[in-house]
Amino acid sequence: MYVDIAKFMMAASKASTKTDIDNLLRQLPVVSEDEYLYDAENPGHLWQEGKFHWIPVGRDRGNAGRIKLAHQPINPIAERVINGFEAIIELCRQRELKINSAIESPRNPRDSVKRYFGIPALDQIPKMEQKARTELSQITREIAKKLRVRLIRNKDTADFTISIEDEGIGQSPDKVHATLLSLGSTSKGDKPYLIGVFGQGGSSAYSACEYSWVMSSKAPDLLDGETPGVGWSVIKHVFPKGRRDDYFAYLAAHPDGRVPNCDENVAKKLGINHGTRFVHVNYDFGGFKSQVVRTLYPALNHVLFNPVLPYELYAASAEADLMSGNSYRLSRLFLRRQQQPVFDKTYSHQVITAQR
Ligand SMILES: Nc1ncnc2c1ncn2[C@@H]1O[C@H](COP(=O)(O)OP(=O)(O)O)[C@@H](O)[C@H]1O
Ligand SMILES: [Mg+2]
Repeated sequence: MYVDIAKFMMAASKASTKTDIDNLLRQLPVVSEDEYLYDAENPGHLWQEGKFHWIPVGRDRGNAGRIKLAHQPINPIAERVINGFEAIIELCRQRELKINSAIESPRNPRDSVKRYFGIPALDQIPKMEQKARTELSQITREIAKKLRVRLIRNKDTADFTISIEDEGIGQSPDKVHATLLSLGSTSKGDKPYLIGVFGQGGSSAYSACEYSWVMSSKAPDLLDGETPGVGWSVIKHVFPKGRRDDYFAYLAAHPDGRVPNCDENVAKKLGINHGTRFVHVNYDFGGFKSQVVRTLYPALNHVLFNPVLPYELYAASAEADLMSGNSYRLSRLFLRRQQQPVFDKTYSHQVITAQR
């Protein structure tokens, strides 16, 4: 079986329907989930050399319960957006440390966006001069471009695909399985300037869609011996023959869990420098399909009420909406009416620390 990986990845980067993903999978040497059953004690058992195999997300065969936890389908999307904020912040932090390893970390996420992007907390904006405020709105528009949520409507089936792509630090192909495709583990426990800590949340998106596609590439200047290029995988819901215990699995290239990868040249052709993209195909938003395009904007602004960074939303449109959360939108209403104070609420940090 021969696959032109550059061509394959180009098609993969555009895939947005179930048929697209099925066609991509057909080009690959994939061992069916009925032929290879992952055994955490001995993952090499039944492994066929040179082929891809389905391995449970988090390398946990019993992952379905936790992955199905999301309640509202918008929640895992918001979790992924938050992961994107953190990846953008972490890129700045790791570059800062490279220049001077003694610089103390920001104390919290707000502190880090102030330090790296000059974005103040919302209640500080009214105190700014008009000129600084104008500059801030330009900075905001630029930064928002680093994190994009795209809703794509399949014209034939009326289904929706949603992707979340960031230009953050990314993960190297060696680490995708242990981070992006992990469950219940985090790389953020010792980082007060980041948000997530439970290693859970975004993965619930798998249960709301038919296929997910992930691609990630770590910032080349921060590789530190890790494999360059793009790590990628597909995630699907597996219903084993004759059994009731379904689970979620991703396509792996090695029994140790590592995902397939392609090298820097292919990454260059794809225009990927660094960052992560999750695509969730045929995402079920619940409710009426006719409302999805209209409600995504208010729904995201509601759940990400006061986000630390702005982002863009392409709601089935080539035009982006700038997303800053309802807290900011409310404050703008005041601004327009020239009332003072512009926004009367401050939001204290919600720090999650272990309780003794
Ligand atoms: N967009 C992303 N870019 C880089 N790494 C990511 C991204 N999203 C998730 N990760 C990695 O995957 C891990 C698991 O993510 P998640 O399940 O959201 O847990 P948490 O955010 O609580 O750590 C993170 O700790 C991080 O290492
Ligand atoms: Mg998270």
